[in-house]
Amino acid sequence: NSIYLQGLGDVLPTLPTDPTKLEARAEKVLSAQAFGYVAGSAGSEATARANRAAFDRWRIVPRMLRDVAHRDLSVDVLGTSMPSPVLLAPIGVQSIFHPDGELAVARAAAATGLTMVLSTAASYAMEDVAAANGEGSRWYQLYWPKDRDLAASFLGRAKAAGYTALVVTLDTFTLAWRPRDLDRAYLPFLRGIGVANYFSDPVFQRAIGGPVTEANRDAALLHWVANFGNPSLTWDDLAFLREHWDGPIALKGIQHPDDARRAVDAGMDGVIVSNHGGRQVDGAIASLDALPGVVEAVGDQATVLFDSGVRTGSDVVKALALGARAVLLARPYAYGLALAGEAGVQHVLRCVQADLELTMALSGISRPDELTPEILVRS
Ligand code: FNR
Repeated sequence: NSIYLQGLGDVLPTLPTDPTKLEARAEKVLSAQAFGYVAGSAGSEATARANRAAFDRWRIVPRMLRDVAHRDLSVDVLGTSMPSPVLLAPIGVQSIFHPDGELAVARAAAATGLTMVLSTAASYAMEDVAAANGEGSRWYQLYWPKDRDLAASFLGRAKAAGYTALVVTLDTFTLAWRPRDLDRAYLPFLRGIGVANYFSDPVFQRAIGGPVTEANRDAALLHWVANFGNPSLTWDDLAFLREHWDGPIALKGIQHPDDARRAVDAGMDGVIVSNHGGRQVDGAIASLDALPGVVEAVGDQATVLFDSGVRTGSDVVKALALGARAVLLARPYAYGLALAGEAGVQHVLRCVQADLELTMALSGISRPDELTPEILVRS
């Protein structure tokens, strides 16, 4: 309500509340390279469009007179209690958008109580992000490098820095064919930013023969690229994660019900139905279309989370009604970060939560666990 009431004090919101307008505004302040990196997707960007179109094929059927005066959006997800079922998705190298990058996002997450998922490819080291996040809640996202010692080092550092759950992204052992990045020489663009979790890691430093300096920075970046992902991983390798991480683990990038079953068989606690926001396999199934099959396969044995295309409160309602326990939001908060640093991220998080609460209440729903497929029709 604070946004509605602002007009009474003759104050207008400084940032748009509409995610499309937010993107348009961010495009004006970002370089073409930075905007291409965040807004772009793989190939013809058909999957990115499909992610959005899938939400339009479901419609909410609101119910009346259900006493929604007392609303409670809180949920428990993989051992973390959250004020609402929305997490901040991992986004790499956020200094591209704002000099404070992940530090600003960590502060905004703490201020709103929401859980952030920190990318391995962050532009600030995970210990510095943890300090900025303070008493906030944080999970760690692993890009599983070729070097096992490096992977183990990342997991040990994350645990020590208070990251409570592990998200392992499987769909990105290499960057996909992304024309907007290819056309603008994305990797050289990273030279000035760096990838702090790698550069600060003792195992990484040993591999390149010492600390990263101006003199060996390009060599360090090349070593990072060569080591970034491991295409030869199989389901048998998941035992390694269990050996090195004693908290909850969720696999990100699951689309097929059989893969979800294999995750459960391997002792994983959760899966994140995601196609990386359409940034990996162009022409892949819309993430929302993949959700019901995964929920049917493993919904009673594992925590199912969802991302790719979530923009509004009604999107969150639809994903939860189709069986997700919570959703991850990505690009919108990057736009908020680009426009106004920590305050911009907070703005985006508050907007989506307020929108969610209003949409639920006006649909006759007081709590996330009341969201079931019965509230939706296929249109
Ligand atoms: C991402 N994503 C991502 N995922 C991940 O596991 N590790 C990462 O470092 C990144 N980096 C990243 C950068 C940028 C600029 C974007 C837009 C996305 C994927 C992200 O976590 C999420 O799966 C999708 O972006 C969700 O789709 P929407 O909300 O952007 O449509």
